[in-house]
Amino acid sequence: MPLFYFQTFGCQMNVADSEQIRKKLMMRGFKPSLSPDKADIIVVNTCSVRENAEIRARVKIGEFAKSKKENASLWVIGCMAERLGDKLKRIIPEIDLVIGAKRIDEIDGIIEKQLPGCVCSKLPETESNVTDFVPVMRGCNNYCTYCIVPYVRGPEHSIPVGEIENVIREKVTNGVKEITLLGQNVNSYNDHETDFPDLLYKIANIKGLERIRFTTSHPKDCNEKLIRAIAEIPKMSRHVHLPVQAGSDKILKMMNRNYESFQYLELVDMIKKYLPDADITTDIMVGFPGETDKDFRETLQLVKQVRYTTAFMFAYSVREGTEAASMVDNVPKEIKISRLNELINLQTSITKEIYSNVVGKECEVLITGQQKKRDRFWMGQDKGCKKVLVSCNSIKAGMILKVRAVRSSGMTLICERIV
Ligand code: 5AD
Ligand code: SF4
Repeated sequence: MPLFYFQTFGCQMNVADSEQIRKKLMMRGFKPSLSPDKADIIVVNTCSVRENAEIRARVKIGEFAKSKKENASLWVIGCMAERLGDKLKRIIPEIDLVIGAKRIDEIDGIIEKQLPGCVCSKLPETESNVTDFVPVMRGCNNYCTYCIVPYVRGPEHSIPVGEIENVIREKVTNGVKEITLLGQNVNSYNDHETDFPDLLYKIANIKGLERIRFTTSHPKDCNEKLIRAIAEIPKMSRHVHLPVQAGSDKILKMMNRNYESFQYLELVDMIKKYLPDADITTDIMVGFPGETDKDFRETLQLVKQVRYTTAFMFAYSVREGTEAASMVDNVPKEIKISRLNELINLQTSITKEIYSNVVGKECEVLITGQQKKRDRFWMGQDKGCKKVLVSCNSIKAGMILKVRAVRSSGMTLICERIV
């Protein structure tokens, strides 16, 4: 029985793509291998968004190149594969196949060519995860000046509604209760007839689907119609991820974000008005070219004002080929790191406060699985983005329970079941 091994870096889109390819290999008789050394095909799905992600992927590919079985194939796919193309094969000659992110739609044909004569069969019904990802659009047209994504993923294109509905229906039949709609900028979804809020209304009609999430949004395309849709559809999670990137208007302009901080804050007010209990989360970057201490203080001020439940926080990393790469990267590394630490400390204290404010309150939890280490605890997520542990017998993954938070351990709510 031939075996495969996957190593996935980067965003949820990569996780979803890896899953698709796993399925295609399984349909051709492959089975997952626990160790890369035993695998016949090793697939590394890569990310280019920051230099660090590329370095980690290259180290891993180097390790696989040395340790793989003699005739095993090494495939490198995703954003770094798109950015470097066959240059990767010259750096690491053991690589057999490079499939860039723009060619992911052609994956069926590519696999067919690589594995000729493999008989394709239907996958046996297996128990699915409770929660799963569904890409609805790919690519990005925004060209934020720091970002490599529009270059490696190409222009935006939306998947037709009917196709998305079919994918979700099949997943729901296999036991999926919650789906996360994915795109670099889901708010600009448009398949010529349906925009993103209308897509949500349509998907909400799918029977057996209990919860809908989506990520990620660009503030410039996040409008009242979308917020109203989230408020009106009971299946929608109460979570809006809204990357702000910076709090200084000067920096936002240099980033080509197309909004000023006051517009972002108006949007946040609108979300809080329609969805008072929602979790708002964000992405923030420090150390962009030209960021002064005053600019950075404006970011901290905005974070204090919005009070995000959690945030992904990064130090700016130069990406060759982007517009910002030709600006002078003039914030010293030590300052980037100290700003990042200050921001993380501020956000961590806000996160802890938000979590502890929920203690004593009721929430609705989707149970996703059992903790491996302490099997007394079941893991789940509330309707927002908060991680939850429930200690109780007779629970199963996929159940939606009413619980009360009895304690917060910083970034996790410990809950007891009510019904
Ligand atoms: N340097 C640092 N962070 C970046 N991001 C995107 N490009 C860069 C870069 N060059 C961050 C942004 C984005 C998230 C996915 O990654 O915050 O929202
Ligand atoms: Fe990159 Fe901006 Fe597009 Fe997001 S919206 S993928 S940050 S260019």
